[in-house]
Amino acid sequence: MSTHDHDHHRPRYHLSPDNWMNDPIPFFWDGEHHIFFQHNPGAPVWGDMHWGHASTCDGIRWQMHPIALAPTPGGPDEKGVWTGCVIEHQGTFYAFYTGINPEGRQVQCLAVSSDLIHWEKSSRNPIIHQQPHGFGDCFRDPHVWKEGEEWLMLIGSELPEKRGGAGLLYRSNDLHHWEYSHVLATGKTEETQYDWECPDFFPLGGKHILLSSRKHTFWHSGEYSQQRFVAEKFGVLDGNPHSNIAYAAKTSYDDQGQRILWAWLRESRCREDQIAAGWASALSLPRKLSLLSDGTLGQQPMPQLKLLRGEHHRFENLGVEDTRVLDGVQGAALEIEVHFAPHTKARQLGVRVMCDAYGNGGVDFLYDRPLSTFGESPLVLRDGEELTLRIWIDHSIAEAFANDRTVWTQRHYPASGTNLSVALIAQDGVASADADVWRLQ
Ligand code: FRU
Repeated sequence: MSTHDHDHHRPRYHLSPDNWMNDPIPFFWDGEHHIFFQHNPGAPVWGDMHWGHASTCDGIRWQMHPIALAPTPGGPDEKGVWTGCVIEHQGTFYAFYTGINPEGRQVQCLAVSSDLIHWEKSSRNPIIHQQPHGFGDCFRDPHVWKEGEEWLMLIGSELPEKRGGAGLLYRSNDLHHWEYSHVLATGKTEETQYDWECPDFFPLGGKHILLSSRKHTFWHSGEYSQQRFVAEKFGVLDGNPHSNIAYAAKTSYDDQGQRILWAWLRESRCREDQIAAGWASALSLPRKLSLLSDGTLGQQPMPQLKLLRGEHHRFENLGVEDTRVLDGVQGAALEIEVHFAPHTKARQLGVRVMCDAYGNGGVDFLYDRPLSTFGESPLVLRDGEELTLRIWIDHSIAEAFANDRTVWTQRHYPASGTNLSVALIAQDGVASADADVWRLQ
């Protein structure tokens, strides 16, 4: 990261490797989160996909590792080592991934390692040659878990004629030989788009959650039995209505039994600016997942983020009408926590970040009271419940958690010299709020 320290748009505590990254592949081992990721080591644009590798204890301080997997000339992954997963079995690590073969088809491959650093590809690659009959071209991003004595692999796919996504289930006794079993679940194009990339599947709070990506990352919660999943609820993971910054999210399970989600944060600036910067994309902050009482997915910030806190400012009982800039809290790296008192008549409440000293410019995180939405996501406050926004700013990233339930990520590239202020907003009415702001170190 050293060559880009002068870059006032480059995130400092979000992982943001040189050149290009997409799709995190998280794996928790021995107290550390290992994040493998889609990586083009040669340019800050998508292409020539490798697996990069970084690790962290807390999600904010990162150690970079050598490239984990590269395409093999003439091999079944010659044209790309795409997304997958890592698991451990009897002291050996297994990386399953989609290889793009010399004809450009998607096949599934395996590599093994004893230290997560040095990987050896299976001589049997590809371990799965092609999709079962009756599915479209999307056949990728294997996700593996153990159930009883057998191993299961979920592969993202699509129904014919763009009717919806499909999750294909394979089974194995030894992690090397796989046979197709059946369809775990299918989706409808109107709800979760026409194919499912980057599927993830795991138990949470008595239900199961299926994640899939296309345009947005979607979650589905529902019942899993007899190796079939019946979705009951679904939603969009991250609520930006105009773009889809947080994408291809996947989870890992940590040693405290917590389900932690990581997402790829895309850029929203043009390709020329990305090339000029020499880096493109970042990893989201870790989010702890929970199943809420209404069966929807909840996302909370991790307590470790408090490690970043420096100089603190507190504001109490602020009357907010229209836009109210918080005095003296400018900065490119901030944590902001705002509590809006209930029973306001204001239609929209929220926070503007990275704005100038008069509250102009920047980006808004607004809760719409009559619509009960935060970004694109529903956020229904109980009678008497405060609106609590916790927002992390990191140069060109702003991630906002609302009431420990829903998250909305935005990118913004302020002109150099902007003083990067924070303002509270109440539209069509008056609101009262308390706010804490920390400069982050
Ligand atoms: C999602 C995705 C995956 C694929 C990878 C390629 O962003 O399209 O489906 O494996 O990126 O980089």
